[in-house]
Amino acid sequence: MKVPIVLAALAAFALLRLLRVNLLVWAGAWWLGIYLLLRFGFTAPIPSSVIMIYMGIVSLAILAYVSSSQPRRDEVAGPLVRFMTEKRYTPLLAATVVAIPALAAANVYVRMNVPVEPPLFSRTVHPASPADITVHDKRIDLDAGENPFRHLEASDPQEFRRHVENGRRVYYQNCVFCHGDTLAGNGMFVHGLDPIPTNFADAGTIPMLRETFLFWRISKGGPGLPDEGGPWDTAMPAWENFLKEDEMWDAILFLYDFTGSRPRGREAGTK
Ligand code: HEC
Repeated sequence: MKVPIVLAALAAFALLRLLRVNLLVWAGAWWLGIYLLLRFGFTAPIPSSVIMIYMGIVSLAILAYVSSSQPRRDEVAGPLVRFMTEKRYTPLLAATVVAIPALAAANVYVRMNVPVEPPLFSRTVHPASPADITVHDKRIDLDAGENPFRHLEASDPQEFRRHVENGRRVYYQNCVFCHGDTLAGNGMFVHGLDPIPTNFADAGTIPMLRETFLFWRISKGGPGLPDEGGPWDTAMPAWENFLKEDEMWDAILFLYDFTGSRPRGREAGTK
């Protein structure tokens, strides 16, 4: 219970008592007082459906009370009849007739006029990868591992090109629909996707990442993402179900080759 509100209600009732107001005013005061108490008088909010039920019962009880004897009926009906029949109240009566539907309409308008906003989700774009994963029954160490074909870039450039070209084939057979012709994340499927596919041309994506991180994301896709940092409604497929391990490493070589970026090296000091 919120004590100040209860005290305020008691004070208001004492004042009405002193003023010796009419029974109709009492009935209205009780109704309003109970409503305000239910709505604002408790520290834990009461659901509005429950308040509606209580107020229905309260209305019936007040109606039963004021109509329970002839003097009470007269006391309540008197002011109402005078309000509706006496000439001097006509403008006020007309205003009331307009005000009631207007209030109802305003209430509906206020309730309907809530701006439509998507729920706010914060998403970790690059969650930490696990230390190792198992792809095609082979354990891949994501912390210490490397792209097994990266070393060819220096030692056997021709062989390296073959891997890049194979990666190009893998990309344009599988990834282009989402990640786009120029790897800009604007493939023909993107209009239906949220989050949108990663734009590999953006300096904030693959140049910031290690090749083993990409291997994790490509092999395990959206289903392999950790729960924390979600929600992950990503359409990125788990490619281990469709591609060979080498094809995935080759696709990674192609992503860097096409965008002219370098993978991030292993940080000094990590294992
Ligand atoms: C059905 C659409 C779709 C296809 C096909 C698809 N991707 Fe994705 N991909 C996504 C979406 C959406 C994201 C962004 C959300 C996320 O990170 O999961 C994403 C993210 C990625 C990421 C993570 C990048 C980062 O910054 O963390 C990599 C890497 C990736 N895709 C590679 C590929 C490769 C390689 C292929 C093809 C073998 C491919 N994707 C095919 C939809 C797709």
